[in-house]
Amino acid sequence: MAANYNNSAWFYDRLSRIVYGKALINAQVYLLGFIPPKSKILIAGGGTGWILEELTKIHPSGLDITYVEISANMTELSQKRQTGQNTVAFVNDAVENVELTAGFDVVITPFLFDNFVDKTVDNVFNHLHNLLKPEGLWLNVDFQLTGQWWQNVMLRSMFIFFRLLCGIEASKLPAIEKRFSTAGYSVIDNKTFFGDFIVARVYRKLS
Ligand SMILES: C[S@@+](CC[C@H](N)C(=O)[O-])C[C@H]1O[C@@H](n2cnc3c(N)ncnc32)[C@H](O)[C@@H]1O
Repeated sequence: MAANYNNSAWFYDRLSRIVYGKALINAQVYLLGFIPPKSKILIAGGGTGWILEELTKIHPSGLDITYVEISANMTELSQKRQTGQNTVAFVNDAVENVELTAGFDVVITPFLFDNFVDKTVDNVFNHLHNLLKPEGLWLNVDFQLTGQWWQNVMLRSMFIFFRLLCGIEASKLPAIEKRFSTAGYSVIDNKTFFGDFIVARVYRKLS
């Protein structure tokens, strides 16, 4: 099974905070600001679930959230989060294998695609694309390389570390922007973090 973060669940947030400070959180909180009230949201690969609490700070009620996480340990931690008056359905499975009813207003993929080889990226991308309604928002955040030497060093270290510990299949970043543009998405906003190493983009699906 690829990219299961079970073994890292208990220290993942602490480690990412040591390495990246608040950058991973700030990038996702920036994206959450685009979510309209009363949205039906699909979160794929939410990790320990802190994103649910950030989401609840912005929208204490009215959201209908489906939270899909392949790691049982990550899902368990996420289920303990405060989610206010929002509705959250937790699914512990690979998102590409979960049959959901199409019609989500918002899809969120936080540091998900950089775990996958191209074939899995295509599978997951197409599956989520079909679940998002026309003109829906897709909030994606991942690492990117902008030509600075230290980015390569950090990226390579992460791939080695998470391959050994969590069995992730990837060894390079996927060409995710190309997938979005080929599928007809437009970028309506974007912002970079941590010296451009992290890019958060707000995509809108075609009508
Ligand atoms: C790099 S971590 C990011 C966690 C979280 N988004 C964050 O920023 O703290 C990727 C997460 O995606 C989950 N994951 C990997 N493949 C998945 C899949 N096919 N479906 C659902 N979740 C998946 C992993 O278990 C892990 O929790």
